Amino acid sequence: MQAPSELREYLAQQENKSFLRFLTCGSVDDGKSTLIGRLLYDTKLLFDDQLSTLEKDSKQHGTTGGDMDFALLVDGLEAEREQGITIDVAYRFFTTDKRKFIVADTPGHEQYTRNMATGASNSDLAVILIDARKGVLTQTRRHAYIASLLGIRHVVLAVNKIDLVGFQQSVFDTIVAEFGKFAAPLGFASLTPIPMSARFGDNVMARSQNTPWYKGVSLLEHLETVDVDTALTEKPFRLPVQWVNRPNLDFRGFSGTIVAGRVAPGDTIAVAGSGRTSTVKRIVTQDGDLPAAGAGEAVTLTLADEIDISRGDVLVAAQARPEVSDQFAAHLIWMAEEALLPGRQYLLKLATSTVPAQITALKHKVDVNTLGHSAAKTLGLNEIGYVNVSLAQPLAFDPYSESRDMGGFILIDRFSNATVGAGMIDFGLRRATNVHWQALDVNKDARAGLKHQKPAVLWFTGLSGSGKSTIANLVERQLHAEGRHTYILDGDNVRHGLNRDLGFTDADRVENIRRVAEAAKLFVEAGLIVLVSFISPFKSERRMARELLGPGEFIEVFVDTPLEVCMQRDVKGLYAKAKAGQIKNFTGIDSPYERPEQPELTLTTVAADPAAEASRILDFLRRGGYVP
Ligand code: ADX
Repeated sequence: MQAPSELREYLAQQENKSFLRFLTCGSVDDGKSTLIGRLLYDTKLLFDDQLSTLEKDSKQHGTTGGDMDFALLVDGLEAEREQGITIDVAYRFFTTDKRKFIVADTPGHEQYTRNMATGASNSDLAVILIDARKGVLTQTRRHAYIASLLGIRHVVLAVNKIDLVGFQQSVFDTIVAEFGKFAAPLGFASLTPIPMSARFGDNVMARSQNTPWYKGVSLLEHLETVDVDTALTEKPFRLPVQWVNRPNLDFRGFSGTIVAGRVAPGDTIAVAGSGRTSTVKRIVTQDGDLPAAGAGEAVTLTLADEIDISRGDVLVAAQARPEVSDQFAAHLIWMAEEALLPGRQYLLKLATSTVPAQITALKHKVDVNTLGHSAAKTLGLNEIGYVNVSLAQPLAFDPYSESRDMGGFILIDRFSNATVGAGMIDFGLRRATNVHWQALDVNKDARAGLKHQKPAVLWFTGLSGSGKSTIANLVERQLHAEGRHTYILDGDNVRHGLNRDLGFTDADRVENIRRVAEAAKLFVEAGLIVLVSFISPFKSERRMARELLGPGEFIEVFVDTPLEVCMQRDVKGLYAKAKAGQIKNFTGIDSPYERPEQPELTLTTVAADPAAEASRILDFLRRGGYVP
């Protein structure tokens, strides 16, 4: 949400006041929206037109029977009103004599945990609401844990609706003790419990007469005075380059927002990735050059030397450099309906870089109720795990605990472009820096030359029983007869050895294909023509295999036999078993097959006989110069 323009002007006039970003979270009916509405109303930052709408709305839709329903003020969307839940992050602004505030209002409904993570990632403090009648719930624990994961150091435990339990101290004390026990290992810098009635204003703006036993401050007093100490400017300098500004040959500037530290002309900086160094010449802005700039400012730097820098590079203090690695350990919050599949390729966005990435290990899943760890093969919606991540190329980063901007990342699905996960880097993995490519004297070209062929992978994909192996076998026999050097990797065979630990869940199939793609690549390095015959049902993994190989080295052969035909053939009797429910996750029955979109070759085995289809493949290889 954008602040109305008058409000933005008003805030601009108050630049010298300190700033607190906070987040409210709680379960569906804990009264978050009411609390925010109350804060906005009582700090008199509601504009007249908003106020009269509120009064009108309260009468029409309100759940408070004619009283002002503050929840309506923030639950802006019609859909939300109907469902009675808030479904996205909304940012509100208000100000008092002492401070300016931005509050991120995030939904409490379980499936919207991802929105909370979004709101939390730039907040200094979290107000966690609890309904005094209900006490600490799963949601409460989840929110506290996510807040801590996302680097929030200060928590207010708002024990709300205290009026509905007769303002009893014992109820408050019990909740505070239970929450305190859970939160202790999370290591918050401050945890401030406040008994509250958002609806009637008790302990919101000022201390309430109704809770004489409560000796602490009101919520607003606390928010106005809590020291959140986010001295980003005191950290080492980091500027992820957003774009290279090159209007003419005489000017080359590097633009972006400084995410940590300060910079001034004369400072020595380094490019994190390449390690090249230079000196800052100027800090250019629209309104003239600056003598210095710090975290939060968008600037353009020019340097004394011509060094290679492009979008995604990070300019850093030469004396305090970030880690640069292609593997790291991280916490991951999964935000998609579709489960995380280790081994699948996602895009990872960190600062201004986006690179292909895989989860190479899911170390454990975290139970948010107990903070206990358990083994897992995938993560579902809202689940949190600890993972190893491997990138297609090294990136510069700091641990999340040092910098949210340099240590936080998101994962993006390569087909839908949706954000599917949010991660917090813990540390870089040593092995990434200690395992180097061994340069070999006899290379792929040398090996292929000796064999008089151009190595490649013929990747056969299609349903079980579609005829992949039959055709692959015919092709290999012919190639072999012609003196070519080949090898077949067949699903049924590889699953007896290299992949004998894998079954047929989505996660196992992803790993199955990842391994066989890597193996095929090695055979191509050896100069062979490799025939891979696997169902390989997912677009994502076939694309991963294609990208692993060089241009022209991946030939996708779609054996397009309709399911009915495969079921009729049922050579191995597996379809009958699958239909009878004796085999689970059977491709085409209760596990999907995603058809290739642009295969190099499509074979139909219904009309043509296998030998004819095999010779089409051989023609393709001759025309492409793979074989003489
Ligand atoms: S893939 O989906 O992971 O690529 P792969 O090609 O290795 O599968 O293995 C498929 C072969 O395993 C099938 O031809 C069939 O003989 C056997 N199989 C056993 N169970 C299943 C199943 N649930 N789904 C598919 N194939 C199965």
